[in-house]
Parts: sequence; structure tokens; C-alpha cells
Amino acid sequence: MILVAGSTGKVGRELVAQLAKKGALVRALVRDPAKGVALAAPGVEISRGDLGDPASLDAAMRGVERVFVLSSVDQQQAVLQGNVVQAAQRAGVRHIVKLGAAGTSLDSPITVGRLHAQTEKDIEASGIPYTFLKPALFMQFLLGHAPTIKSDGAFYMPMRDGKVPMVDLRDIAAVAATVLTSSGHEGKSYTLTGPEALAMTEAAQKLAAAIGRPVKYVDVPPDAARKAMIAQGIPAWFVEDLLKLMEVFAAGYAATVSPDVKNVTGRARTFDAFARDFAPAFKA
Ligand SMILES: NC(=O)c1ccc[n+]([C@@H]2O[C@H](COP(=O)([O-])OP(=O)(O)OC[C@H]3O[C@@H](n4cnc5c(N)ncnc54)[C@H](OP(=O)(O)O)[C@@H]3O)[C@@H](O)[C@H]2O)c1
Repeated sequence: MILVAGSTGKVGRELVAQLAKKGALVRALVRDPAKGVALAAPGVEISRGDLGDPASLDAAMRGVERVFVLSSVDQQQAVLQGNVVQAAQRAGVRHIVKLGAAGTSLDSPITVGRLHAQTEKDIEASGIPYTFLKPALFMQFLLGHAPTIKSDGAFYMPMRDGKVPMVDLRDIAAVAATVLTSSGHEGKSYTLTGPEALAMTEAAQKLAAAIGRPVKYVDVPPDAARKAMIAQGIPAWFVEDLLKLMEVFAAGYAATVSPDVKNVTGRARTFDAFARDFAPAFKA
């Protein structure tokens, strides 16, 4: 039995579907049972619980051998995910797979980077065999820019001409599904990228080719991006994290392609494939 925390999120939903397709027994942890309805598939059971409620985690861990951990961007993330690690220890879980992010460390200037590193440290200290999955920027982040791509044929970011090896979140789920259903991945840390690093101008050209309409990348000053993200309701601390991250991308410091997705799953989707598959979401 595999427990999936974060099962109603973007990666989690895809992971539950891929595990079910492999015939695995899955327990999906959900806060809101109404959201669990969409996860229904043979072999999938729903367990109502909250990472902030250790008793609900103890119930969800009964009979579980492997655990997948992810949760939302949250300043309490290390406490919430620490609760999962402690419940896994109490339940005698044999393998934890944690979704973090590329380039995290305890002294990262980026809050989320420090929080992921803290949970990785807790997992290492727990003695439970683990695998760390560290993705680059998701290709699907561009879906958040679909409104302006539809209205203006453009998207706006402060990433200059920095190249980023964006990864398709379907591939992140595929790596997680493989790691959770086979052996030999214990003690490993995989950096998950796509097969090529692209500047946003190149991503825009590829999107344009897929939807058959011009798409332009417009570089904006960080302060304009800050105002736009605050206006969208993104919490101020996370806006500052995102701006620091985009400066790392803009400077070209996160452009290295990793072979790990292909090594684990046998293939890594290109941005062209993402653009083709998601073209309808970008069409007016
Ligand atoms: N986006 C990127 O480009 C990128 C790149 C690298 C790494 N990452 C990492 O990816 C992770 C986010 O993945 P995602 O986009 O798939 O997440 P997501 O769509 O935001 O989903 C988060 C999931 O966590 C669940 N959750 C949050 N708090 C919970 C709690 N207290 N108890 C139980 N469940 C809880 C949510 O449940 P509800 O449905 O109930 O809210 C949801 O299922 C983050 O750790 C981020 O750092 C993202």
C-alpha cells in the first residue's frame, strides 16, 4: 500500500492516476473528501486527513509500506511534512519519497528551498529509506500565464534570456510512480529536468507553433512582476521567493539538464510535446 500526501494537487493527482494504471494499491490522503471523488480508480482508496493532524496521519498510515510526500507552498511546510515523517516512523514505513525542488539547501536565500532541505534532513535522521525528487520549474507553470497568452498573445516575466530546463509534471509523476513501485532507488536524490534548457523567448516560439498564433515573451522589471503577483493574491513572502528564483533563472544559474528523468522512466518529454498536448489551454 502506497500513501500519497498531496494527492489532490497537480503532481499528486497525476501520480495517483499513474500508480492506479500500474495496478498499485494506493491510499490518497485528502483534506476534503469532495476533492477525492476525482481520484476514483481501481486500487485507489481515499483517507481523510490533514498533515497538521498527527492522529489522522496515524490512521492513514495503517498497513502502508511506502509514502509519497508533497504539500502546498506554506511557511509551515517543514512542520507539516515533519508530522508525516514522524507518523511514518511510528507506522514502520519502509520507504519515503519526497518531492522537493532543484537547488535547495539549509542556507538557501529562498524560504521554500530551506523548508525542503529541512524535511530532507528530518527524513535522513529518521532512518527510513528515502528517495528525494528535486524538480526544476514545471512546464505547466505556463498554464498560469494562459489568460494573457489568450488575450495579448504574450506572457510577462523577469527572466531576461536565462535558460531553464523545465520539466513536464507528468514526468515528475512518472519518476515517482516508478520509484514507489520498484527497488534500487533508496538513498538516491534525483534532479528532474526536461531534456533541454530553453529561454522564455524559445518557449514562446514553441507555444506559438503549437497553437498556430504568435506568442511573445515580454521581459519585465522585477518590481512590475512583484506588483502583478501581489495583485493576484500571492502571499508577499512567496512573491519575494519567486523573484529571487527568477533572478537565479535570469542569470542562467539553473540551466543544467539532468539525465535522471530519462534514466528512471526511459523518456523525458520535450517542451514541444507539452505545447502540443496543452495547446487548447492557450487558445483564445
Ligand atoms: N511549480 C513548480 O514549478 C515547482 C518546481 C519545483 C518544485 N515545486 C514544488 O512542488 C510542490 C507543489 O506541488 P504541486 O504544484 O503539485 O502542489 P499543489 O498543486 O499546490 O498541491 C498541494 C497539495 O498538498 C495538499 N495539502 C496542502 N496542505 C495540506 C495539509 N495540511 N494536509 C493535507 N494535504 C495538504 C493540497 O490539498 P488541498 O487540495 O486540500 O489543498 C494539495 O493536494 C511544492 O513543494 C513546490 O516547492 C514546484
